[in-house]
Amino acid sequence: MHNPFAHHYSPANPLPNSIGAPVRELHAGYRDKILSHLLQLNEDDRRMRFGTQTPDPVIASYVERLDFVRDTVFAIFDDNLNIVGLAHLAYLPIVKGRTREAEFGVSVLPEGRHKGFGMALLERAAIHSRNTRVESLFVHCLAHNKAMMHLAHKAGMTVEYAYGDADAYLKLPPSNPSTIISEAANGQWADFDFALKSSLKQTSDMWNLFIRAG
Ligand SMILES: CC(C)(COP(=O)(O)OP(=O)(O)OC[C@H]1O[C@@H](n2cnc3c(N)ncnc32)[C@H](O)[C@@H]1OP(=O)(O)O)[C@@H](O)C(=O)NCCC(=O)NCCS
Repeated sequence: MHNPFAHHYSPANPLPNSIGAPVRELHAGYRDKILSHLLQLNEDDRRMRFGTQTPDPVIASYVERLDFVRDTVFAIFDDNLNIVGLAHLAYLPIVKGRTREAEFGVSVLPEGRHKGFGMALLERAAIHSRNTRVESLFVHCLAHNKAMMHLAHKAGMTVEYAYGDADAYLKLPPSNPSTIISEAANGQWADFDFALKSSLKQTSDMWNLFIRAG
């Protein structure tokens, strides 16, 4: 997908205030769709996402334990209203004397890749982090995860390698009126996108019923 908000990333200029795809914030009612998304990831993708082998029951337990009050979960939907891209922004416990930190985890289904969805989810999570007073965003990934490493470098993250793992950090500047407006605008775009896809899907489902009945 062409990103109309193309931006030159650097550690001093991390991530733009505009986001290149409609990213929707999810509530607990989406657990089934989240589970279905994660179960579609193959063994390698699950290892990249969670850092270890992750069988179905472990994924089910992760989804069951997602805390939508403490953390934030973001998604990009396809035309059938299935989740094609998913991100979990987990707020780390506040430690006295340390800045507020959050951990970002992301997955995009193979058919949705290379369209800028991974970057859009990272952008939205970074802006949301700024707007919720997080000063440091962190991604834990396997060092050979080329796509995530590319995204991290592109976002201006500092990457530290250790024993086949890599930790990428992004120091975030405080929020400002433009980050607040940008997040609200992306949320509205996502609501509109979702409503439009719902309505198109309803029409198409009705036609299918009609054709089958005929
Ligand atoms: C990492 C992941 C989320 C990227 O999703 P995506 O929607 O394809 O990401 P984007 O389209 O925004 O960008 C991907 C970038 O990585 C690049 N890329 C993809 N594969 C690559 C590779 N093997 N080597 C180098 N760069 C690669 C793409 O060219 C693109 O860069 P560009 O925008 O500069 O052209 C997706 O591959 C995924 O779900 N992987 C499995 C789970 C995972 O690894 N999660 C990350 C750890 S939490």
